[in-house]
Amino acid sequence: MNMDDDVVEIGETSVLSRKMGLGTNKVGKSDIYKDVKDADGFGLVKKAIDSGMTTIDTAYAYGKGRSEEIIGDVIKHYDRSDIVIATKAAQDPERDYAINNSPEFLKKSVDQALERLKVDYIDIFYIHFPDKDTPKAEALSALEDMREADKIKAIGVSNFTLDQIKEANIDGFVDVVEDNYSLVHRNAEKELFPYLRENNISFVPYFPLASGTLTGKYQASDYAKVPRFSKEEFGQIVTSLDPVKKIAAKYDATVTQLLLAWYMMDPDISIVIPGARTVEQVEQNAKSWDIHLSKEDYQAIDTAFSDFK
Ligand SMILES: NC(=O)c1ccc[n+]([C@@H]2O[C@H](COP(=O)([O-])OP(=O)(O)OC[C@H]3O[C@@H](n4cnc5c(N)ncnc54)[C@H](OP(=O)(O)O)[C@@H]3O)[C@@H](O)[C@H]2O)c1
Repeated sequence: MNMDDDVVEIGETSVLSRKMGLGTNKVGKSDIYKDVKDADGFGLVKKAIDSGMTTIDTAYAYGKGRSEEIIGDVIKHYDRSDIVIATKAAQDPERDYAINNSPEFLKKSVDQALERLKVDYIDIFYIHFPDKDTPKAEALSALEDMREADKIKAIGVSNFTLDQIKEANIDGFVDVVEDNYSLVHRNAEKELFPYLRENNISFVPYFPLASGTLTGKYQASDYAKVPRFSKEEFGQIVTSLDPVKKIAAKYDATVTQLLLAWYMMDPDISIVIPGARTVEQVEQNAKSWDIHLSKEDYQAIDTAFSDFK
């Protein structure tokens, strides 16, 4: 991929990112993934940055701050201006991790994330989940204050419905939305993309590899390995990869690399942030930058997953 095509602006901010970064919910010992080893996280983040994935997506929730601490320890060895850090908060440890979007909590969360990351600004700060009580404009205004204090550069919301995004964006403060999206989870195309396009808001999909299901490494009989999907859904995903495998062979690429290249070509997607469990996966995924998909193959991949639209 040509370097000029590879850089995206987040919303209308000064934050520039390459089109692929690293998702780090498997960096830092976590409650979500029991088999994640704390020590492996350092190597994962270092390998990602050295491979060109200089945008790192993290959150307080990944290991209750441990992912951010590890990232902070790694990035202190790099030029800060080369790295884009995106982090998130909403789970309040003082309220048994209940979702909290109150202005006080969000401001405190920004300050605490800065400490764990050992930096003096965060490129993108997301409200990880919406709460029920806080008026969205108040939550966003708190983050706007943090932007004015130069502590954050771009403001994001994650897991918000379209109505919640609209409410949050009443003063035009939302720069980026992160939500569940992949070729097999395509609701955002109709539900969110038109509004985001119209308002110059960037989109970052999470679960781009459908938690590993879109890597081509599974048979239908492996359905129990990814409990997020029912047996039927899993089988449908595995079948839909058959034509993709043929296209991947033409590019001498893996299915994962081909699909990551597809996301990078999609104009509605700003940054694709595949997660990884091993440095080898990071190395493999970084090779997606070398794939130059033809328009016909881009379309053929879209068609292979049209049942999921
Ligand atoms: N905002 C939110 O609420 C939210 C929610 C979820 C995630 N996220 C963010 O989005 C990121 C991406 O989501 P995700 O990591 O959960 O799912 P994902 O990107 O769909 O899948 C990542 C998984 O796929 C497998 N994989 C990756 N590269 C591979 C390769 N080259 N070969 C074989 N397998 C490979 C690995 O799992 P195995 O080795 O176990 O198969 C890896 O952990 C997260 O890391 C996180 O930063 C945000």
